[in-house]
Amino acid sequence: MKITVIGTGYVGLVTGTCLADSGQDVTCLDIDEGKIERLNAGEIPIYEPGLTELVTRNHAAKRLTFTTDYAASIPSARCVFIAVGTPQGDDGSANLSGLWAVVETIAPLLAENAIVVIKSTVPVGTNRKTAARLAELTGRNVDVASNPEFLKEGAAIDDFTKPDRIVVGVDRPEVAEVLKNIHKPFLRNEHPFLAMGWESAEMTKYVANCMLATKISFINEMANLCEHVGADVNEVRRGIGHDARIGFKFLFPGVGYGGSCFPKDVRALIRVADDNDMTCRMLAAVDEVNDVQKHVLGEKLYRYFDGDLSGKTIAVWGLAFKPRTDDIREAPALVLIDRLLSEGASVRVHDPVAMKNVKAVLGDKVAFCEHHYDAAEGADAVAICTEWNEYRMPDWEFLRHKMKNCAIFDGRNLFDPAAMRDLGIWYTGIGLAGDDMATPTT
Ligand code: UDX
Repeated sequence: MKITVIGTGYVGLVTGTCLADSGQDVTCLDIDEGKIERLNAGEIPIYEPGLTELVTRNHAAKRLTFTTDYAASIPSARCVFIAVGTPQGDDGSANLSGLWAVVETIAPLLAENAIVVIKSTVPVGTNRKTAARLAELTGRNVDVASNPEFLKEGAAIDDFTKPDRIVVGVDRPEVAEVLKNIHKPFLRNEHPFLAMGWESAEMTKYVANCMLATKISFINEMANLCEHVGADVNEVRRGIGHDARIGFKFLFPGVGYGGSCFPKDVRALIRVADDNDMTCRMLAAVDEVNDVQKHVLGEKLYRYFDGDLSGKTIAVWGLAFKPRTDDIREAPALVLIDRLLSEGASVRVHDPVAMKNVKAVLGDKVAFCEHHYDAAEGADAVAICTEWNEYRMPDWEFLRHKMKNCAIFDGRNLFDPAAMRDLGIWYTGIGLAGDDMATPTT
C-alpha cells in the first residue's frame, strides 16, 4: 500500500519515517523546495533524537522518498496523510489555510479508493467539512479520517512506535480497518486502536492536551501557594501522587508550559467553545495561570535585586521550552529574557541545542555562550528555565568562583534547597518551603 504524507514538519516527518521503517512505501511531500532538497541530501530540518538515523536508513532503502510533486505522488497513494501546520490565528483559532490549500490541490489527483487522513490538529468539524469539500470538488464521496497525533517532542519516535493508544475518527468502519492495518506494526494488545466518529476524534486530541495543560497550571498555582504557607510542593506532589486517581505524571511545577501544542490547543478549544456560544472557564484559567507562571522567575529576580536589574548580569540556562528539543515556541525562557532586557540587565544564555533558534529571534541582544559555566561568568544570578540533564550536577565551587554573586533561580526544581543552604548558596525554586522570594499569588 502506498502512503503519501503531506507536510514534512515535525509531525509529518516523524509519521512518514516511522511508517516507512515498518516496511511501508512512503512519500513525504512538501511545497518547500529547499526543505525537500535538504531532506534528499540527508539533512534533517528538526532536532529529534533518533530521527536522522531512521530517515537516512529508510531513504537509502528507498522506502522513504521526498518530493514536491503532487501529480507524481498523490494518484498512486491509498492513504494521503495531511500533516500541515495549523498555527494559531490572531483570534486564537487555528488557521486552516494550509489545510484547505492541500485539499484543493489533491482533490483532482486522488485515486478512487484513496483515504484522506487528517493528522494536523484541527477544530471540531474540520473532518466533516473536508469530506463535504472533497465531495464538491470530485463529484464523489472521498473517505476522510481523523488520526490525531500524541507525539511529544524529544520522544516522538517512541511515542509513534509504542503509542498508548491510536485514535481514528471515521464515518465508515471499513476506513478504520485500513488504518488499523497501516498501524499494525505499532499495536500491542494493551495499547488499543480506538475507532470513533470524526468529532470525537477531533475532540480527543484537544481534550488530551487541555487536560495535561490543566494539570500543569493546577500544580503551578498550588506551588505558588505552597511558598506562602510554608509547604513544599515536592512533598505535596508525593503526598497526592500515591492516590492512584491522581498519579504522579505531569504534576511537576515549573516556569509554565510552552511548545507548539499546549498553548495553541488550549486557546483553540476556548475558541471552539466561543463559536458554540459556550464559555470554557476552566481553560481560560489554565491559560491565564500559565501566562502568570512564565513571569515567576523574572519577578523573583526583580525583587531579589530590590527592583533594580539595570547593570546586573543574569545567566539563563536553558532556552528550549523543554529538554531534548531545539523548539523555542512559547518558551518561558524568552519571556524571562524579555523582562530582563527591558529592565536593563545584561543576559548571557546557554542551551545545548536551541541557541541557533534564539539567535534568529534575539540577534545580539544577549550573549550566546558555548558552555553553561561560560554563561555564568561574572553573573549576578543564574536562572534555570529548562531541565537539561547537563545542568543537574554543577561543580558548585567552580560556579561560585565564576559568578560575581552566586544566586540560583531554579525554575525546574533541579536541586535540593537544604543541600544548597548547606553549601551556602542563595537558592530559590518553585513552590519550596521557607522561600523568602515567595511568588505573589495575585
Ligand atoms: C505535548 C503532548 O504531551 C503531546 O501528547 C502532544 O501531541 C503535543 O503536546 P510536547 O509539547 O512535545 O507534547 O511536550 P510535553 O512533554 O508534553 O511538555 C509540554 C510542556 O509542559 C513543556 O513546556 C514542559 O516543560 C511542561 N511540563 C510538562 C511541566 O511544566 N510540568 C510537567 O509536569 C510536565
